[in-house]
Amino acid sequence: MAVQLQRPPAAVVFLCVLTCGLSIPDPGQREALMQLEASMQTGGQVVLTDAERQLDALLFKMKQEETARTDFPPAMHFFRARDLIRTSPIFGLLQKMPKGGALHVHDFSMVDAEWLVKNATYRPHCYMCCTDSRSVRFIFSSQQPKPLPRCSSWVLLENLRDKMINATDLDNSILRNLTLFTDQDPEAVYPSQDEVWDRFEDKFLALWGLVTYALVFRDYYYQGLTQFYTDNVMYLELRALLPEVYELDGSTHNRVWALKTYQDITRQFMATHSGFFGTRIIVTIHRGVNASVMTEAVEEAMKLKKDFPDFMAGFDMVGREDRGRPLWYFRDALSLPVESGLPLPFFFHAGETDLEGTEVDQNLLDALLLNTSRIGHGFALLHHPVAKDLSRKRGVAVEVCPISNQVLKLVKDLRNHPAAVLMSENHPVVISSDDPGMFGTSGLSYDFYEAFVGLGGIKSHIGSLKQLAMNSIRYSSLTSEQQNKAMAEWQRRWNKFVSENVF
Ligand SMILES: *[C@@H]1O[C@H](CO)[C@@H](O)[C@H](O)[C@H]1NC(C)=O
Ligand SMILES: *[C@@H]1O[C@H](CO)[C@@H](O)[C@H](O)[C@H]1NC(C)=O
Ligand SMILES: *[C@@H]1O[C@H](CO)[C@@H](O)[C@H](O)[C@H]1NC(C)=O
Ligand SMILES: *[C@@H]1O[C@H](CO)[C@@H](O)[C@H](O)[C@H]1NC(C)=O
Ligand SMILES: *[C@@H]1O[C@H](CO)[C@@H](O)[C@H](O)[C@H]1NC(C)=O
Ligand SMILES: [Zn+2]
Repeated sequence: MAVQLQRPPAAVVFLCVLTCGLSIPDPGQREALMQLEASMQTGGQVVLTDAERQLDALLFKMKQEETARTDFPPAMHFFRARDLIRTSPIFGLLQKMPKGGALHVHDFSMVDAEWLVKNATYRPHCYMCCTDSRSVRFIFSSQQPKPLPRCSSWVLLENLRDKMINATDLDNSILRNLTLFTDQDPEAVYPSQDEVWDRFEDKFLALWGLVTYALVFRDYYYQGLTQFYTDNVMYLELRALLPEVYELDGSTHNRVWALKTYQDITRQFMATHSGFFGTRIIVTIHRGVNASVMTEAVEEAMKLKKDFPDFMAGFDMVGREDRGRPLWYFRDALSLPVESGLPLPFFFHAGETDLEGTEVDQNLLDALLLNTSRIGHGFALLHHPVAKDLSRKRGVAVEVCPISNQVLKLVKDLRNHPAAVLMSENHPVVISSDDPGMFGTSGLSYDFYEAFVGLGGIKSHIGSLKQLAMNSIRYSSLTSEQQNKAMAEWQRRWNKFVSENVF
C-alpha cells in the first residue's frame, strides 16, 4: 500500500534546523532556548532593579542550599515539614515580604486553632460535650444548655478546668479536635481522601459553637485580620458562610447582621492598621443543598450584593466537590443573576478533584461557562485544555492553595503539583491558604514558601514572587481604580522590603 508523503510538521523542521548536520547541538541556540523558557514562566518578564537583583542572588543561594537537603520540605507532608519551614531563611524572608492579597480564605479557618483554645474556650459560659465518635461540640449559654443527641452531657469548661491541677492535656485534646494538624504520622492518621475529608468536616462542626457565638465571632474575625496583617498581607477576599450567630440567652442574628458585623470590624481594623486595604466577602453556601435551596441562596446573595455593593464581592459554594452536586445541576439557579439583570459575580471552587472524566470533573468548564471571575483550586485544569485556554484568555485566575491540596491528599510531593506547570508558563495564578487554621498554619507565608520553593523550583526567582504578589491585586475583585491605589501602596512596601533586605 502506498504511503502518502506529507510535509513534516513545523516543529520537526524547527528541530532539524537546530540539530540536523551537527554532531553537538549549538550551545548558542541551547542558551537561546533556555532563555526563552525562562522568560515564559511567572515573573519571567519582570524587569528587576539593581537592589532586586542583589536580593535575588541571596535568595538563589538560599534556595540551592534548601534544595540540596535530604529532607527537602516541599517533598514532605506539610505536617512533618512545618518545623523545617519555620527555621528556613527563605521562609523568614517570605514572612517579611509584602504579599498583596489573600484571595481564597474561608471565614472559620482563618485563625490558628490555638487561639480558639486559649482565648475562646477560656471565656465564661463555655460548655463542651463529647460526641460518641470522640469529637466535641461547644456552646456558650447563660444557663445549662439542652442536651444534644449522641453527645455526653454538657460540662462547663470553667468548672472542669478548676478541678484540674494542670489543664494542658485537656487543652491539647481540644486543640486536636479543632485542627487537622497532628504530630503523629499524617499518612497513618489520614489514610485516604474520604478519611481526611470526614475529619475535616467534623472539625468544622466542632468549632461551630465557638465561632458562631457573637462575642467570639467578632474577635475571631479581628484576630484573623491581625494574623494576615502581621504576615504582611494587605487585602483579603473572604469566603463566608454568614451563619446564624447567637447570643448567651439563645437569641440569634441573621445573615445581614453577620455581613454588617464583618463590615464594621473591617472598618475598625483599617482605622488602626495603616496600609491595610480591607476585605471583600464572597458569600458561600454548602454544595450539598438541593436546587430549591440553592435558588433561595442565589436570590438572597443577589439582594446582599445590591445592599453591600462594595463590601460583598460575589458568590461561591463550599464543601467537597467529589461528594456534592456538580455546578451543572444548579444551572437554573446560577443563571438567575444574568436573567434578572442583578449582577452577582461568581468565584467558584472548581477542579479540586482527581476524579477525571466524572460529572464533578466537568465543573471547571461549567464554572467558565457561568462566567466565574476566578477558579478556586483548579487542580484538574491540566486535564482540560479548553478550560485552561479559556482561563488564560479571559484572565480568570486560578487560586492555588498548595498546602490544602497536599493535606487533602490530591498530591504528595509539591514539586508534582499541577500548578508547577501553570507557573512555568505564566498562567494567571494567585497563591492562597484556604483554611490555615485547619492545616496548622496562619496567614499566607507557608503557602508562598511551598509555591516558591516547591512549585517554582530553582528556576523561580524574585521576579516570580513579585508577579505573584501583583497578580493578587490584579486578579482581585477590586475596581481598577482601587487596584491602582492598592498596587501603589504595595509597590511602596515592596521597595522598602527589598532595600531593607539587601546589604
Ligand atoms: C481574647 O481576646 C480578646 C480580644 O483580643 C481579649 O479582649 C480577651 O481578653 C481574650 N480573652 C481571653 C480569655 O484570653
Ligand atoms: C502540665 O502538664 C504538661 C503535660 O502533661 C507538662 O508539660 C507541664 O509542664 C505541666 N505544667 C505544670 C505547670 O505543671
Ligand atoms: C477531642 O477531645 C476529646 C475531649 O477532650 C478527647 O477525648 C478526644 O480524644 C479529642 N479528639 C481528638 C481527635 O484528639
Ligand atoms: C430541599 O431541601 C430542603 C431543606 O433540606 C427541604 O426542606 C426541601 O423539601 C427540599 N426540596 C426538594 C424539592 O427536595
Ligand atoms: C456569561 O457571559 C456571556 C457572554 O457575556 C453571556 O452571554 C452569558 O449569558 C453569561 N452567562 C452567565 C450564566 O452569566
Ligand atoms: Zn476553599
